[in-house]
Amino acid sequence: MPHKKDRSGSTVEKVTRLDLGGEIREQLLPFCRLTKPGEIWEDSISGHRVGLLDATNRADIKSLFGKNKVALFINDPPYNVKVGNVNTANLSKVPLSDYLAFSEAWVKNALRICATNAHFYVWLGADIKDNSQPFPDFMLMMRDFSPKVKPRNFITMRNQRGYGTQKNWMWVRQELLHYVAGNPEFKVTYTDIPKILKGYYKSVGGKITDNMERSKSKNIRPGNVWVDIQQVFYRMEENVPGCYAQKPLKSIERIVETSSRKKDLVADFFSHSGTTLIAGERLGRKVYILDNDPVFAELTIRRLENLRETGGRTGWQWNHPFSEITKH
Ligand SMILES: C[S@@+](CC[C@H](N)C(=O)[O-])C[C@H]1O[C@@H](n2cnc3c(N)ncnc32)[C@H](O)[C@@H]1O
Repeated sequence: MPHKKDRSGSTVEKVTRLDLGGEIREQLLPFCRLTKPGEIWEDSISGHRVGLLDATNRADIKSLFGKNKVALFINDPPYNVKVGNVNTANLSKVPLSDYLAFSEAWVKNALRICATNAHFYVWLGADIKDNSQPFPDFMLMMRDFSPKVKPRNFITMRNQRGYGTQKNWMWVRQELLHYVAGNPEFKVTYTDIPKILKGYYKSVGGKITDNMERSKSKNIRPGNVWVDIQQVFYRMEENVPGCYAQKPLKSIERIVETSSRKKDLVADFFSHSGTTLIAGERLGRKVYILDNDPVFAELTIRRLENLRETGGRTGWQWNHPFSEITKH
């Protein structure tokens, strides 16, 4: 990872968490292109769309998707937990019944535009201090949508940095639910981790074979526990300053490569830093994406433009995504 300081010599992130409100939001809002709810930005190069829309609003989803059907959903809604112990406008904690009504509304909207054969991924968390909600509740709610969508898997991604005390297991996990509609294709991908364990013997055609000779790759498959993905932090190129819930590009690209084909339509109802859009652009998929916050919708558009203008930079590291504003 290149480690360059900016001109001022500082490596401190130039934008504070945008969900905390205050002065920074007021400064950025005049530079946002989508300001009125319902507005949509069209990308003239690859045909992506970014909407300032509400995932729970049926008309909003209809206006973004029209008659198009989605082959892959990657949704990362707010988890109904306070991040860093703060209740914020974007991540407010609500009663569980309200959270489930919110979840049911966006899932219903998604299923209206779902292709016959499609993958449906949802990142979610469990608030252990609040009876593990909303993770199990969401899973139970999803049963109401069976057999239209059915569980296919349940992935855990391991973070490097955890949180917690010496008196408990360190919390290092992120959960990713995988559902499918119909019977969509699935392309096997591999990690960069070499296979090192020998000794799993099986008889093939009367000959005893070791797992190393049977395998198709020298590397291991990700399986449903991902241990090879770096969490985003401010020194990484892909970092989008101001974002507080950015998913690693590698995790989203793994989903896109495995669960969609070139030119498929990919949907993300909760854009934030626009990771799904960047993954789609890099891998040749069209992405329709939305966020109900004008600053995150703008960051999403800018991240795509920045990728193209810089010949491939996936974020701003610790630098300011709004070049109009110089000091913070
Ligand atoms: C957990 S973040 C998504 C992170 C994203 N996967 C990334 O890698 O950057 C959730 C986002 O959902 C947005 N959001 C919350 N409620 C929404 C709604 N009803 N409709 C659309 N977006 C919403 C928030 O503004 C926030 O940016």
